[in-house]
Amino acid sequence: MTLLSMQGVKILATGSAIPHSVLNNHQISNMVETSDDWITTRTGIEERRLLTGENKSVVDLGTLAALKAISKTNISPLDIDLIILATSSPNDLFGSASQIQARLNASKAVAFDLTAACSGFVFGVVTASQFLQTGSYKVVLVIGADVLSKWTNWSDRNTCILFGDGAGAIVLQNCSLEKNQLLGFQLNTDGLHWNHLKLSYKEESKPHSSLNIYQGSFNYISMNGKEVYKFAVSQVPLSIMKCLQSLDISVSEINWLLLHQANERILTAVADKLSISRSKVIMNLNKYGNTSAASIPLALDEAVCEHKIVNNDIVVVSGFGAGLTWGTFVLQWRS
Ligand code: UT7
Repeated sequence: MTLLSMQGVKILATGSAIPHSVLNNHQISNMVETSDDWITTRTGIEERRLLTGENKSVVDLGTLAALKAISKTNISPLDIDLIILATSSPNDLFGSASQIQARLNASKAVAFDLTAACSGFVFGVVTASQFLQTGSYKVVLVIGADVLSKWTNWSDRNTCILFGDGAGAIVLQNCSLEKNQLLGFQLNTDGLHWNHLKLSYKEESKPHSSLNIYQGSFNYISMNGKEVYKFAVSQVPLSIMKCLQSLDISVSEINWLLLHQANERILTAVADKLSISRSKVIMNLNKYGNTSAASIPLALDEAVCEHKIVNNDIVVVSGFGAGLTWGTFVLQWRS
């Protein structure tokens, strides 16, 4: 979708945070029947980070990533109008964004959670842009943070090899249309196939003793890896092409392809389908695994800090995952 906006969106800064504790493939092979060779060959993942320790949550990681991003700007937390926390692993089902708002002392900001699994950051940035382009808000903080280690069945080799914990953040500000950096977006949902990847609520077999209500608790993550793989490799290139076509940007103009860091084979297959050189694919999943909503802002922050992404670069960003949800936005970087 091209943006028929009154104002533009400017990126002020990015930040990220990862836990200290490292879990490598050899350690996982002592827990389930797998091997370092199988995991690296099939996914590209070598190790991941886990948020260990008592009472640690997505709020700790999200706050740290946000503080790092804010510290690179000349805004104060009091200047933030809106905080969007993209997460599927809150420490409170009523939302965790307000706890981050309090920790940042961003008392003027309204804060809410956005749940769209691994597409959460893309959906969060697009949501933020709507408020910025209309002029409703001037400064928006978008955080992508997840601690899926808390929801992973560590005896299930189909899933436990994939996920890691992390957080990334971006500070956005409205600006004149000439300085706009968010060129366009394309979002999708396919609820018919929600079953392929879920962290679903499991009811008790019997209802409450006096009320006919079924209570329960949330299960571990379960996934049909093959189906999710096929979905990503078929749908993500289409989303990217639709978005580029709406902007009249050709594939050859793309400097960087930044995809949700799910599996190296998915990332290279998408690049190959689009005839984008693999050297333009940003990838750090070998170090962190799939960090869900955190993976894109974490990789973006690293690429910016390493001066890979430089002034005027066109960056195509796509997220995909549970829901099923997927989507793309296109950035023009300005340093
Ligand atoms: O954010 C989105 C999140 N999810 C994804 O992106 C997941 C997308 N899917 C994938 O990344 C891949 O499907 C996986 C990495 C999950 C699995 O790779 P695959 O190449 O699709 O393997 P597979 O499920 O077809 O399994 C191949 C074989 C099977 O054995 P048989 O039936 O051929 O004898 C599995 O039982 O590998 C076996 N296997 C394993 N072996 C060692 C499955 N998991 C493992 C394991 N270690 N961890």
